[in-house]
Parts: sequence; structure tokens; C-alpha cells
Amino acid sequence: MELVRFGVSMEKELLEKFDQLLKKEGFPNRSLAIRSLVRDFLAEKYWEKQEGETTGVITLVYNHEVRGFTDLFLSLQHQFLPLIISTTHVHCDFHHCLEVILVKGETTAIFNFYRQLQSLKGVKTCKISLVSEENS
Ligand code: NI
Repeated sequence: MELVRFGVSMEKELLEKFDQLLKKEGFPNRSLAIRSLVRDFLAEKYWEKQEGETTGVITLVYNHEVRGFTDLFLSLQHQFLPLIISTTHVHCDFHHCLEVILVKGETTAIFNFYRQLQSLKGVKTCKISLVSEENS
């Protein structure tokens, strides 16, 4: 496989945070981490355009103390009720919670749900992982 080098510009502070995280996560270099990010991004964009049904998992970490968060979060889950198979809630520390939501249904509807979860104020991370047709 041919490797191509290219330059990237970003804010110094952002790069420092990135480097700190790479060190913490044990990534040997920036190239490997950026390749991983690009693959995730491409996979997510690929899935967003797919038609038909799929199964997967949405994982969120959020601060439950943000005003109004719990009400909005629960309303959203009830709004997308037919998609949700089950949810698991873990209290991580005094402020943060982890929620794992198993979903099954129309890919476009799952992404609509995912995008709305991502945009909730208080969400720290929100990731989606879907099962491809070949693996299901
Ligand atoms: Ni909790």
C-alpha cells in the first residue's frame, strides 16, 4: 500500500491536547491516530447514506447535572421508541454517566436519533457502531 505524506494545520492548543491523548492511549504516533480517525469518519459517513435496516449500538458519556439534560434525553428515547432494543446505564463518577443503547431499525432513523443525541448539551462523547450486512 502506497503511503502519502501531507501537511496539516491546526491550533497549537488542539494539537497539544491531541498529543497528550495519544500518549495516554498509547498511540505510537500521530499518523496512526489520524488514519484511525479518518477510517472512523469514512465508516460513519458510509453508514449515514445506507438504506434499509441495521443493528448496532450507540454509546454516550454525559454529565447528568446539566440542567434539563435528563428530561430531554428521556424524551428523545421515547420519541425513537421503536428503534431501541435495550439501554444500560452506568454511573461512572459523581458527575458522569455512561449509557449504552442497542438499536435496530431503519439506518436513516438510527442516524437521526444519533445526531440528536450528539447535539444534547451535556454530552461528552457519542459514538455509533453498526453491524454491516456481511456480518449480520
Ligand atoms: Ni448515572
